[in-house]
Amino acid sequence: MNQTFYAPATIANVGAGFDLLGLALAPVDGSLLGDSIRIEECEKGIEFSVAGPWKHKLPVEPESNIAWQCANYFLARLPARKKTAGIRLELIKNLPVGSGLGSSASSIVATIFAMNQHFGLPFSSDQLLLMMGEFEGRVSGSVHYDNVAPSFHGGMQLLLQTGNRICEPVPWFKDWFWVIAYPGIALATSEMRALLPERYERAVAIEYGRNLAAFIHASYRNDVELAAAAMKDVLAEPFRSPSIPGFIEARTALKEIGMLATGISGSGPTLFSVTDDPQKAEMAETWLSENFLKNDESFSSICRVDPRGARII
Ligand code: HSE
Repeated sequence: MNQTFYAPATIANVGAGFDLLGLALAPVDGSLLGDSIRIEECEKGIEFSVAGPWKHKLPVEPESNIAWQCANYFLARLPARKKTAGIRLELIKNLPVGSGLGSSASSIVATIFAMNQHFGLPFSSDQLLLMMGEFEGRVSGSVHYDNVAPSFHGGMQLLLQTGNRICEPVPWFKDWFWVIAYPGIALATSEMRALLPERYERAVAIEYGRNLAAFIHASYRNDVELAAAAMKDVLAEPFRSPSIPGFIEARTALKEIGMLATGISGSGPTLFSVTDDPQKAEMAETWLSENFLKNDESFSSICRVDPRGARII
């Protein structure tokens, strides 16, 4: 049987929670923003192909594709009694690589989720998430779960990675619109991480802790004003924003429109901006389309949080 599995795009960091907070995105127009994997049985081995609007940005050899690597990694861990015939996989690449929208995480989550479903659920949810995080680490140079966890589980996820708990869902503001704008240039996460200092001053560490604590508290209390004030990225944004043409100007313009907060999605260059007012969301998207988007590959979208995460479609 031929089945297709989808994993949504994500905003990692969400302003206040570098490496520890992420949310899944669902465009309000009902379209899907994320990669999919089609899976079916075949005679033997792994047959692999790529389709979709961003196919041309991926390496031609299957061995260099992260979805192919994930499938092999999964098979190597699969108990022998679960193994059946071969599998045919098609990755439908809907997200641009190096966009800050969790493009690699979306491929990883869709593939590992699809494999687990196809082979009769041999692994638990936590085991799957650990595999997904390990793969994300291979691509970006360090293990972080703030894309894979929300893409897998949906909603907004806080990474605990404490004791045996990996992540916990956090309530999100149901009436917020997340306006995203991808300017059409690729920035590799590994390079954007290399821009960050090895060490931070004590005052910066305290400010990071304060902002994240305030944002999580505000999310539980439904305190919009506090949440917006706490969405300040003191760890990454100061070092990354110079690599994103027009980011500083966009943030100033979006503030004038009345947006609650603006930040870099993941390691960029996608920008996100939030509001609870549908008219302001439209105005922000128009401004970004006219001023921040750079070429034919750029796009913008007005989104809500996707509560569902990885799923069959
Ligand atoms: N938290 C990671 C970073 C997310 O900002 O480097 C990368 O998508």
